[in-house]
Amino acid sequence: PYQDPIELVRSLIRNVPDWPKPGVMFRDITPLLQDPRAFRALIDIFVYRHMRHKLDVVVGIDARGFIFGSALAYALGVGFVPVRKQGKLPYKTVSAAYTLEYGDAVVEVHQDAVKPGQRVLLVDDLVATGGTMLAAVKLLQQLGSNVVEAAAIVDLPALGGSSLIAKTDTPFFSVCTF
Ligand code: PRP
Ligand code: ADE
Repeated sequence: PYQDPIELVRSLIRNVPDWPKPGVMFRDITPLLQDPRAFRALIDIFVYRHMRHKLDVVVGIDARGFIFGSALAYALGVGFVPVRKQGKLPYKTVSAAYTLEYGDAVVEVHQDAVKPGQRVLLVDDLVATGGTMLAAVKLLQQLGSNVVEAAAIVDLPALGGSSLIAKTDTPFFSVCTF
């Protein structure tokens, strides 16, 4: 039977209470990735949204943003760039510190990963406080690239991240909210 692709994606996100800390409701995308129809539906949602954007590169955020970001880059026929947690990239980097729903971290990207003026789609699995996504936008803008959109599978609007991103000049998109 026909199922709306957005509903299919949303229905396969698992709630895990009190992980990794008490009080956090963790939204787990692994059931979605495990289901071949849902994984394809997810990539297709992004492909139809972005095929006209003349993108140069998809940038994915460590680690869950890599999983569907690289599948999306392949489907769109563009390159993939990783934004990584501190200490993982071997060449010269730029870095930014940030806080997220359950901690602090530093993200880095190679200095030559994007070129000035390149049209970039930035993806991650989820936006909560927006700390991670905003730190990545900052790095990409610092390197002179044009972040066409910051996109996630899941937005948690109660945590305020998507409204913070909406106040910048970078458009925000999510497939579903909780
Ligand atoms: C999670 C998630 C986002 C971020 C969102 O990553 O994948 O990157 O938190 O939270 P925020 O909007 O409050 O910044 P995490 O740091 O847990 O890393 P992982 O992908 O390696 O699990
Ligand atoms: N990253 C930050 N908050 C999260 C949550 N509630 N579920 C999954 N990933 C997250």
